[in-house]
Amino acid sequence: MKDIARQQMSIKVESMDMLNAQIQMEGRASASYLAMASWCDQRGYNQSAGFMYKQAAEEREHMMKIFKFVNDCGGNAISPAIESTNHDFSSLEEVFETALSQEIDVTKSINRIVAAAKKNSDFGVENFLQWFITEQLEEEKTMRDILDLFEIMGRDGIALKLIDERISVE
Ligand SMILES: [Fe+2]
Ligand SMILES: [Fe+2]
Repeated sequence: MKDIARQQMSIKVESMDMLNAQIQMEGRASASYLAMASWCDQRGYNQSAGFMYKQAAEEREHMMKIFKFVNDCGGNAISPAIESTNHDFSSLEEVFETALSQEIDVTKSINRIVAAAKKNSDFGVENFLQWFITEQLEEEKTMRDILDLFEIMGRDGIALKLIDERISVE
């Protein structure tokens, strides 16, 4: 009886598989932000570069949060393989557009896991992901606010410099 109790996971297998996919998605997001940081750094968009380095670090933290959760629940967290990352952007605006669409994809993915956890009465997982739901709302808002700056200030060289200076690294 004791052995059986020890073998049981405190989350459902379906949740574990979805969380492992999410680990990979956060890892990929981290790599993608790092590529964006490099693009910005090379073009003298220093604030944007700082912002993207910070995003890259945060995505890794998200990855680790889920990684640790899966193992703490008795599951098997899998270290993700990150395949090729896009480094090719045509403008600063495209960098932030890519960032927003990436965040929207993450939000949808988190929502799908929460919906599945609800359906399976996997309340621990549902509860764990509440933090991510709030975080995603903030992340999407941050990216949309930055993209608004391009509409307001324009896209010529001076506008881009002024936009970059307004990007907060805090
Ligand atoms: Fe994330
Ligand atoms: Fe994010």
